[in-house]
Amino acid sequence: MTQRTQVGIVGAGPAGLLLGHLLHLNGIDSVIVEDRSREHVIDRVRAGVLEQGTVDLMHAMGVGAGVQEAGLRHEGLYISFLGQRHRINLTELTGGKAITVYGQNEVVRDLIEARTETRRPLYFEAEHVGVDDLDSSQPLIRFRHEGMDHELRCDFIAGCDGFHGVCRPSIPAGALTVYEREYPFGWLGILADAAPSSEELVYTLHERGFALFSMRSPKVTRLYLQVPPSESIENWSDQAIWDELLRRMTTRDGWTPNVGRITQKSVTPMRSFVAAPMRYGNLFLAGDAAHIVPPTGAKGLNLAASDVLVLARALKAFYERGSSDWLNEYSDRCLRRVWKAQRFSWWMTSTLHRSPDETAFDHQRQIADLDYLTSSPAAMTSLAEQYVGLPMDVSFESVGLNECRRN
Ligand code: APR
Ligand code: PHB
Repeated sequence: MTQRTQVGIVGAGPAGLLLGHLLHLNGIDSVIVEDRSREHVIDRVRAGVLEQGTVDLMHAMGVGAGVQEAGLRHEGLYISFLGQRHRINLTELTGGKAITVYGQNEVVRDLIEARTETRRPLYFEAEHVGVDDLDSSQPLIRFRHEGMDHELRCDFIAGCDGFHGVCRPSIPAGALTVYEREYPFGWLGILADAAPSSEELVYTLHERGFALFSMRSPKVTRLYLQVPPSESIENWSDQAIWDELLRRMTTRDGWTPNVGRITQKSVTPMRSFVAAPMRYGNLFLAGDAAHIVPPTGAKGLNLAASDVLVLARALKAFYERGSSDWLNEYSDRCLRRVWKAQRFSWWMTSTLHRSPDETAFDHQRQIADLDYLTSSPAAMTSLAEQYVGLPMDVSFESVGLNECRRN
């Protein structure tokens, strides 16, 4: 079966779905091709912190009802070290901005619903997905769906298929430069049926390593623990996880997470990765397909959103005015913001984790870094403006949306 579309989108994660909807709002056709099932994509547990700009974008796109209803707006966060929590007031330091805790899987669920309402094509469980003719004016997506072979001819392909997707590896070797850093630790993450004992996130550096207190709802706590990168989850009984979490997180004033039944647990390695440029011919990479950040700065999903906003702007300029200028600038515009988020995520990660090869000097320097951070208004402001999200490169108006801020 042969089909044609303006923009073929590979991957129905946040990047692919947000792009599809932005294009829809601008009258541009797209087909989304996803290799996993709808249930898998929705149930997959991922991070859950939305920058102010991401929340604003979802509202402006008309897909903000879920985040409005169930998102938890946080106006501050805690940094904890030497047994003491220190609050950083994000909202006061950023002229009223905040972050919103709302699971990425909820974002994806809302966006799939919005896509379905548009009646534009979204194929789940596509097999043997491949891309071809990338440097031609009609690149091709091939896939098999419900036993039928499909060929999708496109003007452009958006590679939104995450770090392990097919788009980036389809670019000829030598056309991309890869910048990469692996960390000598990973995160063991759990979801627990326990009411969050703090209204805001707590990032902890303990002498036994990093720990993070987060949440998903008034009844569900999300917690993370620094572990070796290849640690097997089988090595951790629920009791051992709680013992270690409480040991690292409990502060001298007696604050501690509430304990409850663990409903999900997994270990994820951490890396920083950038592939540049984010374009080859008429294939444009966006989100995790082009870059990965360690989760400490909570930037992954938000970078996917800022990439596709730039891409939508570029495609709109092409279809409305025949101008390729924005398409030509796509990669550079995205990478400027990506590198700042990379730097921030690397800094948060290196300041809050203990490395196997660190010296006693390194650890004292970390403590001094955190002491400075939590006592200097200048340092707190710097963290706050990056944590709530640096400005996006493109205005919402330029993609036909109204700027809007909901608190
Ligand atoms: N064909 C089609 N779809 C694919 C393929 C393929 N060969 N390979 C992967 N995919 C799909 C995945 O199943 C997934 O649904 O592409 C989607 C990519 O989504 P994400 O990995 O969520 O990446 P992205 O949309 O860029 O969002 C970035 O995701 O990993 C988190 O922390 C990251 O929050 C950030 C966000
Ligand atoms: C999460 O809630 O999953 C979360 C929060 C903050 C992070 C990373 C993940 O930095």
